[in-house]
Amino acid sequence: MERIIRPVSRQLLRPHLRYPFAIPPTPAVKRLYTMGHGRPELKDKSLFIEKCYINGEWVGAQSGETFEVHDPATGQLIGKCPELAASDVEKAIQAASEAFPSFRTTLARERARMLRRWYQLMMDNAEDLAKLITWENGKPLADAKGEVNYAAAFFEWFSEEAPRIYGDTIPASVPGNRVMTLKQPVGVCGLITPWNFPAAMITRKIAPALAAGCTVVAKSPQETPFTANALAELAHRAGIPKGVVNIVTASHNTPSVGELITTHPDVRKVSFTGSTNVGRILMKQASSTIKKVSWELGGNAPFIVFDDVEDLDAAVMGAINSKFRSSGQTCVCANRIYVQKGVYDEFAKRFAAKVKDFKLGLGFENGITHGPVIHERAVDKVHEHVQDATSKGAQVLIGGKKASALGPNFYEPTVLAGMTKDMLIASEETFGPVAGLFPFETEKEVVELANKAEVGLAGYFFSGNVHRIFRVAESLEVGMVGVNTGLISDVASPFGGVKQSGFGREGSKYGIDEFLTVKSVTFGGMGEPLQA
Ligand code: SIN
Repeated sequence: MERIIRPVSRQLLRPHLRYPFAIPPTPAVKRLYTMGHGRPELKDKSLFIEKCYINGEWVGAQSGETFEVHDPATGQLIGKCPELAASDVEKAIQAASEAFPSFRTTLARERARMLRRWYQLMMDNAEDLAKLITWENGKPLADAKGEVNYAAAFFEWFSEEAPRIYGDTIPASVPGNRVMTLKQPVGVCGLITPWNFPAAMITRKIAPALAAGCTVVAKSPQETPFTANALAELAHRAGIPKGVVNIVTASHNTPSVGELITTHPDVRKVSFTGSTNVGRILMKQASSTIKKVSWELGGNAPFIVFDDVEDLDAAVMGAINSKFRSSGQTCVCANRIYVQKGVYDEFAKRFAAKVKDFKLGLGFENGITHGPVIHERAVDKVHEHVQDATSKGAQVLIGGKKASALGPNFYEPTVLAGMTKDMLIASEETFGPVAGLFPFETEKEVVELANKAEVGLAGYFFSGNVHRIFRVAESLEVGMVGVNTGLISDVASPFGGVKQSGFGREGSKYGIDEFLTVKSVTFGGMGEPLQA
């Protein structure tokens, strides 16, 4: 995306803090830009790396090409990363292939120790990692710190799973036979990750892969490559052998890099988190070599509040947490908030009051609760959803506009009431800070509406009736249900969807299975009696 640099006052603003967008800033914004929102100071400056990590070394593209990464809050240049071509990534796959035979035979306990050391290094460098996340993703620093803990937890969790990869002994149905199973690493894994959790989406895939004994080539997102690079540096310090973890970057070459990863015969497994549309393309490509795949794709989560809710304030907070986490940019964010008629007006009033208290701004500033969205395309989509809803009769309770005074990537946290099923938000994931409140009458009606979506990642509801809780939890066509909570993400809980939200599970005791194959071993001629 091209950005126009037009500083407003060279005297007023320090040179590296010039307002970089085309729209002239308001006095409030000028103040923010002069308050020091520039390059964050890292305690360990060597964690900021403008290269790729291949075969244990920091390298650039053979072509020498790079791409620019910009702070979504200010538009300032953060740095540049190598624009790898498929031929560069081929080297990473080769490194991972060469490292695999010896890594697969390391003792599980040794792999556990590596992951534990990586976990500890993440915790020791949590502040710097959080700064990198806020810088390149825009989320408030407190949220970024939360993400670092969440991300590191996958290393801790899978360090504990690695030594517990048990097979079975199976009673055979053929006389004289004995059957057992071995669980073995699938091989080289291609991991393709998104920008909304620059640390956690990478660790959630790498941790189980390494625990299983696989080696990896991870393609980090073009918007947020620096957090991934810092993680690679920490992998190096944790003593993870060369070639086991490779992190590659690309921007306009992303489609050809993705194609290589999904078609290369030496890559045995691909794990992807991203949109359903890209998932469809990658799945087609991966079919050429019949790879094992797991896809975590888009959602359009229903969030239902029934009249029999025990604590309406808790439901309001649940909806706030679910809808506005990361400014609405998670796959599990509530997208359609259905509220039963008896509590609708009161819920809408309390919900809008909470959103009014949000502080929108630059993620490094104190007290900011919500940052920008990732780029202008995201703002445009949010605005399109709002305009579509209002043109069809929805009322704006709060927000409803671009917050252009802060910069082109800011959108006012928005609450819309009087939503109906013909509006875009009813069928499309907004992935931004807009909450649409849909009134409904009956349980049957709302479950049908919730299940109308082609996707099925997360779903939430608030109710105080235990019979209803079981009925509705069992009826929602989603991979994850939150009952009386709006936050379900937890390393211990299986994460994944059904329908066009994909398949496979991440985290939890199931996550490691995605990186293992089950081999049965049958022993014949074993049924002889004891020898006299
Ligand atoms: C996602 O948006 O894909 C992940 C969200 C989470 O782990 O909570």
